[in-house]
Amino acid sequence: MGRGTRSRGGSEIVHLQTGLHLSADPRKYVKKCAEPSLGLRTSYRAFRFLRYTDVGVRRASSSVGIPSIGSMTSVIAVANQKGGVAKTTTVHTIAEALTERGREILMVDLDPQACLTYATGAVPDDLELTIHDVFLGRAKATDVVLELEGPDILPSSIDLAGSEIHLLTKTGREFVLKRALADIKDSYDIVLIDCGPSLGILTVNALTAADYVLIPFQAETLSDRGVGQLLETIDDVRHYTNEDLAVLGGVATMFDSRTNLGKRVLIDVVETHGLVIIDPPIPRSVRVAEAPGEGVSVLQHARRSRSAQAYRELAENLEALL
Ligand SMILES: Nc1ncnc2c1ncn2[C@@H]1O[C@H](COP(=O)(O)OP(=O)(O)O)[C@@H](O)[C@H]1O
Ligand SMILES: [Mg+2]
Repeated sequence: MGRGTRSRGGSEIVHLQTGLHLSADPRKYVKKCAEPSLGLRTSYRAFRFLRYTDVGVRRASSSVGIPSIGSMTSVIAVANQKGGVAKTTTVHTIAEALTERGREILMVDLDPQACLTYATGAVPDDLELTIHDVFLGRAKATDVVLELEGPDILPSSIDLAGSEIHLLTKTGREFVLKRALADIKDSYDIVLIDCGPSLGILTVNALTAADYVLIPFQAETLSDRGVGQLLETIDDVRHYTNEDLAVLGGVATMFDSRTNLGKRVLIDVVETHGLVIIDPPIPRSVRVAEAPGEGVSVLQHARRSRSAQAYRELAENLEALL
């Protein structure tokens, strides 16, 4: 794919399709999306609960884990109806890590809060077209995509909240995203969909369009019912709209290796739900939380930090499962 112009730390992004110059004001992101600095830097000790090699490679065609050029696109919905579990951070950072590995990646922002869109440095309110226009049938995904230096994005804005209402009255409402992605996904190796904090129709669209689901969760509450509810929704989606949907696994985010609680929660999630955890857990680090304010992921913000390394390793292990 051709790449657009973009200055990362600077103030300008050019949308290739429209030629629109967008101001990238990271402070807007900080105001709308970032939580106050978490201030906890962990001393990350490598904790390997389940290595991906224990899980095994799930598709026989990909024994070394690197899909050959021209192989089919994998669509991954990153979902958990709980807010603040690092869905957006995980999509952005894995997308950057896979791009570093030479993959063509499309990110889809399916949250009206548009935090992923802000995290790329774009300003949703200034965009002429967003994924909302795709849901309304006013634009194609190829008209909306922002082609950036890093991974491309189908951006969102608060308007997307209106799509939920529009979809309520539409026949075939679960399939709108799947149909929209059909126009564009062949240009990419992997499509990562950032879901919002609900199990509503937008998330059902993501699960219907996806081959796989990845479930980030914060390993801090024992007997958390959230993952179970999500797995029930996934079962419903398999039953009604996407029988091939596979759960790729869970990702432990904001992990504090100094406490036993996190490890107990991981074991609880595996035992209760049979969910595979993809290694490694991502350590809690203020460097991760700071990154979106700069319009970048932790891979650029703190290249050699433990969190950046963990996300790179996670991306590699994830690729091996596709
Ligand atoms: N590993 C981490 N360490 C510290 N803060 C993190 C980490 N991952 C995410 N965060 C912060 O946690 C908050 C919630 O993350 P976010 O990705 O927006 O969650 P979600 O998309 O699930 O709502 C954000 O402020 C983000 O910067
Ligand atoms: Mg989010």
